[in-house]
Amino acid sequence: MQTFRNITDDILFIGGSDRRIALFENAYPVPEGITYNSYVILDEKIAILDTVDASVSTLFFDNLEAALGERMPDYVVVNHMEPDHCATLGELLLRYPELKVVCNAKTKTMIAQFFPKAKIDDAQYVLVKEGESLSLGKHELQFYMAPMVHWPEVMVTYDATDKVLFSADAFGTFGASKGGLFADENGFSEADFSEARRYYTNIVGKYGVQVLALLKKAAGLDIQYLCPLHGPVWRENIGTFIEKYTLWASYTPEEKGVMIAYASIYGGTENAAEILASELSKRGVRNVEIFDASKTHPSYLVSEAFRMSHLVFASVTYNNDMFPAMETLLLDLKAHMLKNRTVGLIQNGSWAPQSGKHMTEILSSMTNMDVREPLVTLRSTVKEENLTELQALADEIAKSLAE
Ligand code: FEO
Repeated sequence: MQTFRNITDDILFIGGSDRRIALFENAYPVPEGITYNSYVILDEKIAILDTVDASVSTLFFDNLEAALGERMPDYVVVNHMEPDHCATLGELLLRYPELKVVCNAKTKTMIAQFFPKAKIDDAQYVLVKEGESLSLGKHELQFYMAPMVHWPEVMVTYDATDKVLFSADAFGTFGASKGGLFADENGFSEADFSEARRYYTNIVGKYGVQVLALLKKAAGLDIQYLCPLHGPVWRENIGTFIEKYTLWASYTPEEKGVMIAYASIYGGTENAAEILASELSKRGVRNVEIFDASKTHPSYLVSEAFRMSHLVFASVTYNNDMFPAMETLLLDLKAHMLKNRTVGLIQNGSWAPQSGKHMTEILSSMTNMDVREPLVTLRSTVKEENLTELQALADEIAKSLAE
């Protein structure tokens, strides 16, 4: 049974939620599931904006058929060719063979890659470029290229009539529907940004320059509704969300605070991390989060590292290197281009501490990662001399936070 809903009189949401999925992109835990959003505009001509993942295809077609009634769709606009949005495109074209595919040249190439058996005539394509538009009758769609937000073919579509930005992956959020179509219907709170942040930083975080370019284009549009491909539709707090994106895309910390991530085997390194957090608290630092890097999935730590101004990495030495979970984390942060952070380090080694050296190597290959002294060095467990080092590191971090 269909579950479509109206966003405006003519624009309907026809996507769905997957709560069975464990790992989005087979990489990121989604304990609350995820939505795959698709939209339809009912006008003299009917346009479908993106399709959905295969997991919600039945609901998508139920929604579409109910939304269409006796009518046939004219266009499918492909803003993003990744299969979580286009797995259903092939079947859509089989069901509605007269449908015109509105996309850019890069997307056309990808359609052929993903659907090699599909028979789509060149005449069936409406290829669009930056700033071009398509009239549906009352609604005028404008197309803006958004390469690498998150794939090279990505574009966004602006409905100038109802002032709706169909933003592709941008402004997406992990999490299945909570019932409300709009974020404000779900009792939006700051906590909602934590999954939006985790989505952004892990999926698009590497491409801050390209996201800033898209935000510049969006700044020239009057946006009353923000319709991403994942998560709720936004009609309130759009400005706040755009401000968050501006910070994330420019690798500017959202908050003055400290993320401590430790990799510990028998508890010595964990103990040092706890003592440092306590010393920071004694110095009036209130925004501290501690994570066991072996237990917490790196996607959450990447998100926290984008949020916080100060990062502390504490790792035992393992195979004459850092602990694997710490290496995964640091390489993940590097891959996502994190920069502009103040950093403290704690290393541990029962016979040859080496983790500090290797953590420093990765950090020094990143941009503007300001590693502060002292490098705290443990031999198995925290000793009196380590307390002095941890207090000195806490002094340094607290002083830097106050600057
Ligand atoms: Fe939600 Fe880049 O796909």
